[in-house]
Amino acid sequence: MEYLDFAADVARSAGEVLRHYAGRDKKVEHKGRANLVTVADRESEALIIREIHARYPNHTILAEESGLVDQSSQTPASDRWIIDPLDGTTNYAHQFPMFSVSVGFERDGRMMCGAVYDPIRDEMFTASRGGGAFLNGETISVSGVSSLSDGLLLTGFPYDFREKVERALDLFRSFLVSSQAVRRAGSAALDLCYIACGRSDGFWELDLNPWDTAAGLVIAEEAGGRVTDFSGGPFSIYSKEILASNGAIHEEMMTAIANSD
Ligand code: IPD
Ligand code: CA
Ligand code: CA
Repeated sequence: MEYLDFAADVARSAGEVLRHYAGRDKKVEHKGRANLVTVADRESEALIIREIHARYPNHTILAEESGLVDQSSQTPASDRWIIDPLDGTTNYAHQFPMFSVSVGFERDGRMMCGAVYDPIRDEMFTASRGGGAFLNGETISVSGVSSLSDGLLLTGFPYDFREKVERALDLFRSFLVSSQAVRRAGSAALDLCYIACGRSDGFWELDLNPWDTAAGLVIAEEAGGRVTDFSGGPFSIYSKEILASNGAIHEEMMTAIANSD
């Protein structure tokens, strides 16, 4: 698929920018108390936006640092790129090697394809609707773990965590006691890809933004995963709760959420 090839190409180029600055970029600005941004975030995003402008001059872009970039003079904004130029900035700023670039393509409100690139491991996750999911070109699929007590789960905490600490800790406690283990790795885009390739069995998080999940959603679903809100309803990248799993442990995860408060 043309859009997927483009997404993977720009994600790889942006990943090279991140690799270039890794370890040398010491200038960290604060967008909020715990919300950081670095030169690498900005340069990675500038590169991706430049490439999209050149290739698809009528497409809209929703990017974390620039917001909505509407290039279309007459075309309705149905074709939209949703970008996180560096997912895992806190890790990046601390030289903790877990971060990614996420590039997703949305048409008429539906995510059609996406690429998530981990420049440290040189891992490129890709998927397009109906076309399967891949890691460096090899087909991937979710794990076969069938019970939550055997599951390795992933999660993350929002930057305004301190205001929502009770709710977040209730959920964390409930999953901690019902699963085999919980990890907090620090890149939601990679969390979804890890569900897709079976390295993890379930993932939940509150208050993510569209750019965190746009590409990973397609990758997880195309690998056979299930992605919903906390009650099993349809997931939207614009909504504030995500529950993703290999499918088999989804109902048990919903029960753990229902029992969490
Ligand atoms: C963050 C990461 C993290 C998640 C945060 C996100 P950023 O994205 O995806 O895993 O827990 O909520 O904001 O800010 O590093 O692009
Ligand atoms: Ca992010
Ligand atoms: Ca980011």
